[in-house]
Amino acid sequence: MIHLGVNIDHVATLRQARLGIEPEPVKAAAICQASGADSIVAHLRQDRRHINEKDIELIKKSVKIKFNLEMSLDSEIVGIAVKIKPDQVTIVPERRQELTTEGGLNVSGSLAKIRSAIGLLENKGIDVSLFIDPDLKQIDASFLSGAKMIELHTGKYANAKNNKEADFYFKELAVAASYASKKGIKVFAGHGLDYVNTQRIIKIKEIEELNIGYAIVCRALWVGLGNAVREMRKIIG
Ligand code: PXP
Repeated sequence: MIHLGVNIDHVATLRQARLGIEPEPVKAAAICQASGADSIVAHLRQDRRHINEKDIELIKKSVKIKFNLEMSLDSEIVGIAVKIKPDQVTIVPERRQELTTEGGLNVSGSLAKIRSAIGLLENKGIDVSLFIDPDLKQIDASFLSGAKMIELHTGKYANAKNNKEADFYFKELAVAASYASKKGIKVFAGHGLDYVNTQRIIKIKEIEELNIGYAIVCRALWVGLGNAVREMRKIIG
């Protein structure tokens, strides 16, 4: 069964719209946990535009399922991860002006830095996944970095303008997933997945986990967060 990781960043985005205390991400995490999520995902950005350090402390303390912290390789953030000890971190690239994580990591371009971060984090008992584009060169570099798990960026597939483009990017993901799996790397996927485009992604048998945020938080406005998670859980099986 494919695992479902629910990214709750945009619960915090709503809170930050008024710089208040509601809605609380930790409450959202509890509802996701009770509604069939296998893990809670949150991205502690350097600019703290949504999730903050207090949120991740509370999530770590109260959630029983896997806590997957998304983060850049910024030294302050790596230090926070080492202190809070989520079950897993997913290393992502981060640019200040971006609306969301726009592309995968350039692992080959910063191999030494990534290798040493993996060493440091794994030493503390934290699993490390690298968020990369479905590009065989990046998978080779991830293998060289010592990463045991990767998350394939599904954004191009999710944002395809027509069926032909979607087919092309779907094949790219399927090839990348099979290539990584043959190298012994665990394969996860995410970004831009929704209640429609996820139905095809689950056909890629090497994918063990999907991380989905925006679509679930949007759906929660109409049906409630628990139902939004259950509906996605039903789709992914
Ligand atoms: N996986 C990673 C690594 C991400 O950075 C994000 C966005 O924060 C997601 C999954 C979830 O993407 P979305 O919010 O588009 O579902």
